[in-house]
Amino acid sequence: MGIKVLFVCLGNICRSPAAEGVFLNKLKNRGIEDKFIVDSAGTGAWHIGKPADIRMCQAAKRRGITLPSLARQILEKDFQNFDLILTMDNQNYENVHELFLKSNLPKKAKIKKMMSYSSNKIITQVPDPYYGGDDGFDQVLDLLEDACEGLLASLTTNC
Ligand code: 4NP
Repeated sequence: MGIKVLFVCLGNICRSPAAEGVFLNKLKNRGIEDKFIVDSAGTGAWHIGKPADIRMCQAAKRRGITLPSLARQILEKDFQNFDLILTMDNQNYENVHELFLKSNLPKKAKIKKMMSYSSNKIITQVPDPYYGGDDGFDQVLDLLEDACEGLLASLTTNC
């Protein structure tokens, strides 16, 4: 079965595909891919069906990480299917939490902020890199590499 983890951002073309790719890469390096089901989604619908932003893909590729995501919007049934939903910034958290409260389906997912797993106690959100320069994509990856380490440690010690 495996632990089901869903990463969520706004557009599902930058941060959450990067989080998915970074986390999958860590699972692969440890040989524990079969213990998890990993996906990503966006709260917005603009980019449905699209691969991750080319700038994010290239920054990830330089670190040997591929981003398999095709964008989709978060669905009500995700609260039923996933164990853990990880949001990138405070606005994502609020939007996802609102959808969660509105849903009448049975729910099992816990919603957490991605940066709550980070060793960085100053930066509490993964900033949106979409309208910024190339440095932003590397900064997102740095934050996610660290937060994914903490996430993996938390999920592998509790099971
Ligand atoms: P993401 O970045 O939420 O990290 O995927 C964004 C991508 C696209 C847009 C906003 C944020 N957009 O407005 O199209």
